[in-house]
Amino acid sequence: MNIAVIADIHGNHLALEACLKYLENQCIDAYFMLGDYLGEFPGIERTMELLYQLRDTKKCYFVRGNKEEYQSSELVEKHPEWDAYPSTIGMFRFVNQHITKADLDFFQSLPISMTVKMEDLPEIMLCHGSPRKNNEKFTENEKLLKEVLEETAEDYILCGHTHLKKELHVGTKHIWNPGSLGFALDQPYTYRFMILHGENGAWTPEFVSLEPDVEGIVQEFRDAGLYEVAPCWTKMTECLVRSQNHGVSHGMVLAKAIEIAKEKYGQCVWPMVPEDCFQEAFETEMLGWKK
Ligand SMILES: [Fe+2]
Repeated sequence: MNIAVIADIHGNHLALEACLKYLENQCIDAYFMLGDYLGEFPGIERTMELLYQLRDTKKCYFVRGNKEEYQSSELVEKHPEWDAYPSTIGMFRFVNQHITKADLDFFQSLPISMTVKMEDLPEIMLCHGSPRKNNEKFTENEKLLKEVLEETAEDYILCGHTHLKKELHVGTKHIWNPGSLGFALDQPYTYRFMILHGENGAWTPEFVSLEPDVEGIVQEFRDAGLYEVAPCWTKMTECLVRSQNHGVSHGMVLAKAIEIAKEKYGQCVWPMVPEDCFQEAFETEMLGWKK
């Protein structure tokens, strides 16, 4: 029994195409899709098309990521005054302009976690963040980890969300994060996913990493106008796919931008993060960037 485990695609259709092509020759019995299907990359329609093809032709299990929640929130349509904050809000709205009502309905139909039982193998819990919350990084915090493991009956847990490949064993529990397919924070940047092998009553992971098409990705950013849609956010994504982000994530730059704005203007409430503060945070946190 071989299961493909894919998390955090974020609209990177080039990564998804490469991954599915690789999997064609791997005798895959089912696909576990762990959420955050859209986000920083412009290949939105193509990503959804590939996901629906997969759903309609293979045995698939999908859960909903936190990125899917944003698409049903006020971030995407209300508050025209937030247009002044493109680095914060631009990608949410860009994604929203490229999805359909059917896509939204599909996302809303998904659970945030589910238990899967395959043949005589142990049950597996699938989730994006944690089994109880799709924006929780439970593997990165000892207290949360303990809480979640106590609440979870299954011995095998698969999660995404952190964009970092992870393997944890606590007592009888096994926790795996395949890393992010589209938007990995692991360095150097590659397309990351996992094949889970089920044999003799146990599951064993095989982590896979494929070489990315960096220039193809960056060309698509340019063609889609993302440097105008979400200027600093897209420059950060480019740094990441070029492995030039020095271990710094988008979230870390955002936190710094808010700190700078509070110092400079007395207050700052997300998503109203001034562009000058974002630019300053980007330059100080992600050194090495060259336009
Ligand atoms: Fe994600």
